[in-house]
Parts: sequence; C-alpha cells; structure tokens
Amino acid sequence: MNKSKITRSAACLLGLQLLIFSCQSPEPQQESKRGLIAENAMVVSAREEASKIGVEIMQKGGNAFDAMMATEMALAVTFPFAGNLGGGGFAVFRMANGETGSIDYREKAPGAAHRDMYLDENGNVIPELSTKGALASGVPGTIAGIFEAQAKYGKLDPKEVLQPVIDLARNGFVVSPQQADRLAGIRDVVREVNGEETFYGKEWNAGDTIKNLALAETLERIAKNGRDEFYKGETGHRLVAHLRDMGGIITEEDLEAYEAVWREPVIFNYKELRVISMAPPSSGGVTIGQILKMVEPFDLKSMGHNSAEYVQVLTEAMRRAYADRNYYLGDPDFVDIPVNELLDREYLKSRMESFNPDLATRSSDIAEGSVLFAESMETTHYSIMDSDGNALAVTTTLNGAYGSKVYLDELGFFMNNEMDDFSSKAGVPNMFGLIGAEANSIAPGKRMLSSMTPTLVERDGKLWMIVGTPGGSTIITAVAQTILNAYEFDMTMQEAVEAPRFHHQWLPDQVLFEENTLDSTLLQILTAKKYLINEGRTPIIGSVDAIMVLPDGKLEGGADPRRENKAAGY
Ligand code: DON
Repeated sequence: MNKSKITRSAACLLGLQLLIFSCQSPEPQQESKRGLIAENAMVVSAREEASKIGVEIMQKGGNAFDAMMATEMALAVTFPFAGNLGGGGFAVFRMANGETGSIDYREKAPGAAHRDMYLDENGNVIPELSTKGALASGVPGTIAGIFEAQAKYGKLDPKEVLQPVIDLARNGFVVSPQQADRLAGIRDVVREVNGEETFYGKEWNAGDTIKNLALAETLERIAKNGRDEFYKGETGHRLVAHLRDMGGIITEEDLEAYEAVWREPVIFNYKELRVISMAPPSSGGVTIGQILKMVEPFDLKSMGHNSAEYVQVLTEAMRRAYADRNYYLGDPDFVDIPVNELLDREYLKSRMESFNPDLATRSSDIAEGSVLFAESMETTHYSIMDSDGNALAVTTTLNGAYGSKVYLDELGFFMNNEMDDFSSKAGVPNMFGLIGAEANSIAPGKRMLSSMTPTLVERDGKLWMIVGTPGGSTIITAVAQTILNAYEFDMTMQEAVEAPRFHHQWLPDQVLFEENTLDSTLLQILTAKKYLINEGRTPIIGSVDAIMVLPDGKLEGGADPRRENKAAGY
C-alpha cells in the first residue's frame, strides 16, 4: 500500500469525517488500480478505433505527429459529437530532446463578424444565435492544424497516414449504446436545422454500422490535395456555399486567410513539477497555472484528498483564477495579456490573502486582481506518446455537442458553434455560464477565448504526464485535479483520472460536485462555512485522457470511465 493510501486508511479509521471522498474512492484497502501498460507508445482517446489507428500509424514508422493526424481524423469519423473537420483545437508538444511548443488551430471569427452580431435592437442577446445554425460557426482550423504539425514534425506521407481513416469511414464503425443515446437526443434538432433527410437525422441504434461515404470522399480529396483542399479547393467551396444558403457569413476569403499559429506554451513550476500548457487564446495554461500556484503554499497532502479543507483551498483558488480569466484573457493577436504578471508568485500570494478557512469568500467580493501591465487579453482530448519519447497533448472541439448542429451532408461533417465562446455581451453568461469582458469581445478574424488545457508535466526534468479533457469551463479544474491527484496523493494514472471531481468558476458562485460524490458530512461542513453547493446537476466533470511515464519507463494510460475513452499501445 502506498503512503497516501495509508494516510487515507488511517484517516478513515480515525473517523476523520472530513476525508469524505478519500474514504470512498479509491478503496483504501485495495491494491493500486492501473490503466493499460505499454512498453513503447500509446494513444488514449475518446474512441477505441481512434486510439488503435494512432498506434497502428506509429507501428508503421510514424511518430506522435503522424499519430495526431490519424487519431484526430479517426475521431471525426467515429465521434462526430466532438471529433471534427469543422472545428478547431490546440496541441502542446514536448519532443524527446526536451524542446517544447504548441500549435493553435482555434477557429476565427469570420471577416463579416462584428461585436454586436448576436444582440437584438434593444441590445439583448438573441437566444441560440451563437449556438445553433450557420451563424454560430467560426472559420474551422482543424485541417490547417493537423497538416501544419504533421508537415513540420511528422515522418510519413499524409496519404499513408489518412488511408486507414478513409477505410474506416468507408467500411463503417459500430454505434455504441452511449452514442445511440446521444444521437437520439439531438435527432430532432439536427433534422430541424438540416432537413428530415439529413444523415445524422436517421435513426441510428446501438450495434448499427455507420458508413460515412461523404466523409470518406472528403478525406480522400484532402489526402490527395493536402490542406488547401479544405481552404481553397472543392471542399472549401462547397462548405461556403452550403453555409451561405443557410444564412451563414463565412466566405472563401475567410477560409483562404485561415492559418494555424505556432505559439510559445505557458510554462510554470509547481513544486518539483514543470508544467507546459496552452497559452492564449486558450485560458487553459494561465488559469491552471494560477490555480496550482495559489494552492502551492498549502500542505494539500496532509489535508487529504477531497477533504473539506482541500475542497475549500482549491475552490478559493479556482474562484480567484476564473475572475482573472474572464477579465484579462482573449486572443493575444488582438489584446495584450499580462501572462507573466498573472502568474507572478507574489501577485498570486496576495490574491489568496483574503482566503478565510472559516468562511467562504463571496464571488461578489472578488473581481479581477489589479496587475500592472503596459496598456498597449463538446470537445475531445487525446494524449499520445511515441516510441522515441515525443509527447503530444491535443484537445479539439466543435464546442457544443455536434457543434452548431449544421451538418454538411455533401461533405460528411458537422460545423462548430465556437462563436458562443466569445462574450456576446459583457456580463451575459455563455453556454458554460462563463462571463466575459472586452478582451473576449467579437471582432473580425479574432479567435474566441477557450478553456482547453492540453498539458504536459515534467518531473525531475523528464516527461511525467500527458493530460487533458473536454468539459467546457470545467476543463481547467479537472486537469488541475488530475495532476494534484497523482502528485500530491500518489495515485496511479488510472486512479487520478477516475477520482471524483469538483469545480468552481467564480460566477455563478457555486461549487459543483459530481453526482453522488458529495457526502452529507462534507456538505454540512461546507454549507456551515457558507459555500453555495450545486450537487446533483453535474453528472460528470470532464472526461480525462492521460498518460503517465512510470519510473521504469513504461507508459500507463488513464482512460476516463465517465465516457467510452480507451487506451491503446504496444
Ligand atoms: O474552447 C472551449 O473552451 C470550449 N469550446 C470547449 C467545449 C467543451 O469542452 C465541450 N465539451 N464538453
């Protein structure tokens, strides 16, 4: 039994009722629970087919970047819920030699977009305009991102990489029970948006095989003509024409102008760990950095995993970090973001000075902190490690489930509704309850702020963990907890992924707990301290896919059982 488990068991025996979750999961007396172990290389993703195709490409001599292209496109085929050609994402990498970097293939607002495009004549947000239909989409970045990354660092010919995915689209994949439920759940709205005959408007049952021939043909053209097929070729022309007919504003010029951007990742230390995560326009790296650095001075280990004390400290750090996120962060190509100041140790220490262990801080008493800087701020994650030691954390999204619900029947994919990640109006929450400010207002060609947090963690100078998750605004806090679970509480990768999670995002002023994980004693302690709890309405917080490099160099996959995630490796 490892040390943290002894601590947990002892605490349970002593009746320290504060240690609510830790007495529940993982079971104190049980052996450590491990995920899949592989000797050489691994992919953990939302679908088994996608993980396997990524591994197959590496076995054929490809590296992590070749596997990224294959896995991302295999998710577009088998996981249309979030896998995509019509969306965007971020990838953070660390090469075997320690070189780090990231690529931003986030969607951009079309040229005809404008600040008030989702407001009526009285200045009120028009419901659903930024979430459903052709106006909800930003200019997609996925094809640009995977081609740019693969061209720079990959080893194989993209045709070879894409062939198994084209075969998968043509031969079909089997609908899982969870997928059948989701497809049934959106069938009416997909028909409403695209017409009765639309592909995903059909009744798909668990066990059916979906053969997406339109997507197979689109991927074949892309394999033949490269990224320009999507941005300048037949695929792009058809996409623009389709959206125009539906009242959309994305033009051929918008597609032609789209470029993925290489960005310096956000890098910070947490105790002996070095964390490498995504920079703006994702808020992921800055906000996870703020949270972890705000809790760094506290002895989390002795508090116990998910004890009331632990939940409090983390919640207060989350509250303060999200207040800064919502005010300061946006597309760095449009607004100046004081990244270094926001991650400054002294600044973060001063942010936590108002923390009172006996009483919850009210979010209404917290605003963004004042930092001095020159004035001049449904998703899916997969983690890959190749046999050379190159690591990739990739999070990609259409935003909501099946994005804007606009399905391009002739091309075989859904379009994103990422425009909702902008702040349509200052102070009005988006679909994740996030409130934005000027830094994240809409402007032509601007990227909308994201919470996606693809992250790599080094320990003792070596790669230790690859981690990320979907979950909208809860992504950042789920990734933070996964890292803390493994580091502070010595959990295995699989245990760290499975452990119950909670979330706070400043506004609304509520701590969310996953369903059935909030013990009555913990509830009592927190409510006595005036925490506002929203238990029950949050079935899951994130769906983490992670890889840990074990001391003997083997890889352990952490595939979240909250969804159908799967690790594959060799
Ligand atoms: O970029 C973002 O932060 C959101 N578009 C992510 C959406 C998401 O994670 C939905 N999945 N549950």
